[in-house]
Amino acid sequence: MKQYFINSEKPPLVVESTGENISELMEHITTNNRYQKEILSKGAVLFRGFPIHTPAEFEKIAATIDADLKNDYLGTSPRNQVPGTNFVFTASELPPFYPIMQHCEMSFLQHPPRKLFFYCHVEPKLGGETPLCDFRKVYEQLDKKILSDFETKGVITVRNYSAINHKPFLNLFELKKWNEMFLTNDKKVVEQKCIENGIEYEWHSNDRLKLLNRTEAVKAHPITGEKAWFNHAQVFHLSASAYEYQHIHAYQKRLETFFYKLFSAFAVQAKKLTAAADAQSMNMFFGDGSAIPDSYIKHIEEVIWGNLSIFKWQKGDVLAIDNYSTSHGRLPFKGEREILVSWSA
Ligand SMILES: [Fe+2]
Repeated sequence: MKQYFINSEKPPLVVESTGENISELMEHITTNNRYQKEILSKGAVLFRGFPIHTPAEFEKIAATIDADLKNDYLGTSPRNQVPGTNFVFTASELPPFYPIMQHCEMSFLQHPPRKLFFYCHVEPKLGGETPLCDFRKVYEQLDKKILSDFETKGVITVRNYSAINHKPFLNLFELKKWNEMFLTNDKKVVEQKCIENGIEYEWHSNDRLKLLNRTEAVKAHPITGEKAWFNHAQVFHLSASAYEYQHIHAYQKRLETFFYKLFSAFAVQAKKLTAAADAQSMNMFFGDGSAIPDSYIKHIEEVIWGNLSIFKWQKGDVLAIDNYSTSHGRLPFKGEREILVSWSA
């Protein structure tokens, strides 16, 4: 096996096969808990070129790196469990044009996953990368006044879910329905899950459900103590997608990305006019309920893009990420793409 970086010193560290099979890789991983240190320090390790062909084989590798895989999901991406596995899910069913901004998985929960694993089952031909970003660097490089506002106030993540029977009319930004996220139609079960996970809930007219998560904006790593930017402001804030598409178009330079850059700027204005700030599908506020200025989101996205590590997927790739230091996202794509995900407690 050989090791190298694709983007100098940025995550991931690549561990590439020089002919080893899956058993040899698993033995290599379990010997002296190899790669735990690299995942901690580099933020992510990419296993490349090993004969990993199925979701079940991916699950075996992920469980070898971390035996504590989980299958409960309280995030926002529509995703489905992969048949024949216990802990493998589709990474996201969101449409290909939809930007997924950099985030640490489920950062708005009390107990976000420790590690995240991705597997490339079908590699995308155009776009569809899963860029990574060292959020410890983002924490260090953010403007001190902006960082201090976030650190002192914390953040509130707001999500609004429509009723079970609601048929959306051209709302591209609507979340899935609350029964799809909680996998039940029983409101009492939903309430119990919210209480267990420290999520505030409010039922509104027409069976709509509003969820609020109050968290810190910055988190110290549970093992290393290093501080990292750790919230979804650059994902859920109303203006985030418009700023993101400016960066995406500058990178991909396609006619479609130009269209979506204009469209997302228009959509943000339209959404501001049609619904109150806390009635949007998703939005972010400071912990005292005050608005996070657009200029703050613009700055955060600039710092993130300045540290972004973009690399092409190859079929069979397995990526192990330290979710408390390193974020991931998704660039728009065309054609087929099948990236699967698992996570650990
Ligand atoms: Fe994610």
